[in-house]
This record gives sequence, structure tokens and C-alpha cells, in this order.
Amino acid sequence: MVKVAVLGAAGGIGQPLSLLLKQNTWISHLALYDIISVAGIAADLSHINTPSKVTAHLGPDNLKDAVVDAHIVIIPAGAPRKPGMFRNDLFKINAFIIRDLAIAASKYCPKAFMLVVTNPVNSTVPVVAGVFKKAGMYDPKRLFGVSTLDAVRASRFISEVNVELDPISTRVNVVGGHSGNTIVPLLSQLTATRDLNQEQIEALSYHIQFAGDEVIVAKGGITSATLSMAFAGNRFVSNILEATVGGRTGIIEPAYVHLAADAEGGSEVQKDTDCEYFAINVELGSGGIERIIPFGPISEYESRLLKEAILELQANIKLGNDFSILETNGKPSIDSVGHEAKM
Ligand code: NAD
Ligand code: LMR
Repeated sequence: MVKVAVLGAAGGIGQPLSLLLKQNTWISHLALYDIISVAGIAADLSHINTPSKVTAHLGPDNLKDAVVDAHIVIIPAGAPRKPGMFRNDLFKINAFIIRDLAIAASKYCPKAFMLVVTNPVNSTVPVVAGVFKKAGMYDPKRLFGVSTLDAVRASRFISEVNVELDPISTRVNVVGGHSGNTIVPLLSQLTATRDLNQEQIEALSYHIQFAGDEVIVAKGGITSATLSMAFAGNRFVSNILEATVGGRTGIIEPAYVHLAADAEGGSEVQKDTDCEYFAINVELGSGGIERIIPFGPISEYESRLLKEAILELQANIKLGNDFSILETNGKPSIDSVGHEAKM
């Protein structure tokens, strides 16, 4: 029995993500949790003739049933950005949502693979780590910030610049974190970019880094990326299932992970970046992260991007870690934590 819990299942991401997950035949139980409207969504999805049963769980009183014994918990719960906001601006609201969901998961499915979509990913992932550490259940190999969308976008955008490239099979190494300047596409590693001049490289890099803002503007400020995120989230869940249930080896996916994950490669990347968490390619195995893959040679331009990214990432990670410490001591202070977040 493979249970996958989607927390925030009634949202802009949660609904299409759940639809895609309903099509995954590894999943036998899809548990949908939200604080609104989840019954109707589950009823609707439950008519699709795939093996999984779908259950609805509304509100905190039903959170335990949603997560108990889950193999994977994917969390797109929380507020999205509006125009003019930085992802960090969401921390004041989303840190508490993530904390409470993580507390439930640490109690009722402590061995689950935890996949965090909720922004700001750079800081919400350390919050989940803090909660699991406090519960004495932390396994960094099972915790992932979902940064797949950056890689999905990079593959698509590069195929628009070079139409010979297949957007499905072309992979771009995108490292750092999941917000503006912390997203560092390593375009120099592709032979296909050798014909691009510096101006083109910079334009493409910017497009990848700030693609999220484009969607928010195009949607008239109503919400941020949902459909492409559902696609990315589904790709990531599918790969976790292939590796952990299907026993497939050699799956490599980018994710925002704890470099202390005691997996081969982690300490090397930590030494190079001086970051505790980092978005990077990882090899998945039956226990989660099998290997963290050092990012390899980078150009001078990318090295400049990386330096900027690291400064911001370190502050974002501190924000998440500080929140966890304050919360652990029972003295959460939203204002002081939020204030540090301002860019
Ligand atoms: P949304 O507002 O459409 O949906 C969020 C859902 O979360 C809503 O259904 C809401 O009821 C629910 N929710 C709120 N508080 C909750 C709680 N305590 N418990 C359970 N559910 C709760 O937002 P969205 O567009 O789906 O985005 C969700 C999050 O994903 C945002 O933080 C957004 O910034 C982030 N996001 C991340 C990526 C990424 O690449 N990682 C991409 C896009 C969006
Ligand atoms: C994205 O990259 O589209 C998401 O992180 C949502 C956002 O706030 O831009």
C-alpha cells in the first residue's frame, strides 16, 4: 500500500497536482487535506478509474488521518505571492502553516518522504527539518524542497532559444535555491549554449531566475504558477516513487536538500558553497537521497551569480533555522523573524 498525502489539495497547485497523482499507478491511496473545499475535489477525483482510492480530510481535526502512514507527504499549502512581493514576504504566514503540518507528519508518518512546495522554499525546508529534529525523527535523506520547476523551465526556455533541442530530454543543471537571485542556471555546462553570446546567456539566465514573476504578472496578480508547478511536483513525486517503491536506480533529479544529508557528495558541496541547504542534482535511491552530485565546472559569470545566490541563501536558511529555534523554545516571534526576511 502506497499512500501519498497532498496537504493544501484544494489550492491552485493542489488540485491539478492531485489530478496528475491520481494517474500514478504506484499510488494506492491519495489522501487530500485542506482547510477548505476538499470533499468535493476528492469526490470528483475518486471517479477516475485508476487503482488509488481518494480520501478527503478537512481541517486540523482530520490532519492525523490524512498523513498517518503516508509514504510521501507533498505540501503545496499556504499563501502564494502577489505582484511586488518577494517569496520571503510569505514566510510570516507560511512558516506557521508548514510548522503545524510538519508537526503532524513527524508524529504520524515520521518515515515519510517530505516534499515541500510552499514558499519561500529556501526557508520553509529548514523549518520542516527543525520540527523533525525536535521530534527526534529527522532523516535529511527524506526531506526535499521541490525546486523541479526551475529545471523544467530551464529545459523549456533553452529549447526556445535553440529549436534543435528537445525540451523533454534536455536537462539544465540549475543550482542554489528557489527564489530570483538564488536560482543559478549553469548554462555553460551544455554544449548547446556554446554558440550563444554573453548577452544571450544573461537574458536566458534572467528568464529562468525570474520566470515566477512573469506568471504572476500574466495572471493579473491573482495567483502564481500552478499548472506548471503541478507538472513539476508530479514529476518529482513520480521519481521518488520509482526510486523508493519501484526500485529503479540511477534517477537523478534536482531538489533543495540538506547538505548534511550524510550522502556522498554533500560535504563537498557544503565546502564549496558554505550553505547548509542547497538546490542541486541528487541521485535517488530506496532511502531517498543516495548521492548529492557536485555541480561541476562553472563559468566566471556563473561564479558571480553563485556568490550572490549564496549570500541570500545563507540569510534565507538562517531565517528558517531561527524560526525553528524560537518555535522550539515556545517563543515564536513573527515580527522579528519576518523583519530579518526583508530583502
Ligand atoms: P493557493 O492559495 O491556490 O492554495 C493554497 C492552498 O493551501 C489553499 O487551498 C488553502 O486553503 C490551503 N491552506 C492554507 N492554509 C492551510 C493549512 N494550514 N493547512 C492546509 N492547507 C492550507 O496557492 P498555490 O498557488 O497553490 O500555491 C501554494 C504555495 O506553493 C505558495 O506558497 C506558492 O508560493 C508555492 N509555490 C511554490 C512553487 C515551487 O516551485 N516550489 C511554485 C509555485 C508556487
Ligand atoms: C514560481 O517559481 O513560480 C513559484 O515559486 C511561485 C512564485 O512565487 O513565483
